[in-house]
Amino acid sequence: MLVFKTSLKLKKFLNSKGVSVGLIPTMGALHTGHLSLVERAFEENDYVVISIYINPTQFNNLSDFKNYPQNQKKDISLLKPFSKKIIVYIPENKEIYPDGIKSNSYDFGSLDQHMEGKFRDNHFNGVATVVEALFKNTTPNKAYFGEKDFQQFKIIKSLVEQKRINTKLILCPIVREKNGLALSSRNKHLNSSQKKLASSIHFTLKKIKRIYDQYDVNELEKIFIDKIEDSKQLKVEYFCIASENDLIPIKNIVNNKNFRVFVAVYVGQTRLIDNIKLY
Ligand code: PAJ
Repeated sequence: MLVFKTSLKLKKFLNSKGVSVGLIPTMGALHTGHLSLVERAFEENDYVVISIYINPTQFNNLSDFKNYPQNQKKDISLLKPFSKKIIVYIPENKEIYPDGIKSNSYDFGSLDQHMEGKFRDNHFNGVATVVEALFKNTTPNKAYFGEKDFQQFKIIKSLVEQKRINTKLILCPIVREKNGLALSSRNKHLNSSQKKLASSIHFTLKKIKRIYDQYDVNELEKIFIDKIEDSKQLKVEYFCIASENDLIPIKNIVNNKNFRVFVAVYVGQTRLIDNIKLY
């Protein structure tokens, strides 16, 4: 396993090998969800670069940024067993933001207007800025993203198209705990009883998937909120059903082509997101 802090050294190494490269951008605090992306990337590339960088510009809340879980030693020990051909890229701020820590402005049409884009001001400009810089610094053939952050994937797809970046994007399935809770670095903030309570998010999404054709979206939203907020510790921030194409929330499901349910739920102070496709 190799660790690089600068793209100069990283690129020099990869260019000298002439190999195919798969990139997995992360913010560290690695879990099995991240590792499933690493496994997939190894099936399809000679070398896998996993970047670890907690990107300040995508946090709309300073305390969320400061409290973001961080454990580089543990991350590296989780990655070591994978292969000699794994490269950990840990850029410093100046690698990503040579002109100061500030995000670029992008136009993503409707893709960043709702859900995470609506509730986290400037979040996707921050995500796109860091991903564009990571693509530039690592020039990957393929890059791997999780379906848990489906809206993020759509944003990055749009970024790649707009900037004509020559990287193929691969969307990977959500890895969950046995009880259904989607793995997330933020789960480290949950105690064991909160983890149990949080499993109702996926459980209730599955219920919505079973019954969606019997109700309109407002009724489904109410069913979801009532069930989740049965526990005093859980609070729904949003419940949206949107087409995967434009991510514009709908009020009536005319057909079930490409629709997904997106939710954000607070479990105590911890904000979690999840989604489920309806087809
Ligand atoms: P992070 O939350 O660390 O996630 C890194 C990648 O792992 C993302 O593509 C995310 O969708 C994927 N992932 C997270 N949980 C997963 C799970 N349970 N199953 C499968 N994949 C999962 O997403 C980010 O970081 C950042 O926004 C980033 C893209 C790195 C830009 O800073």
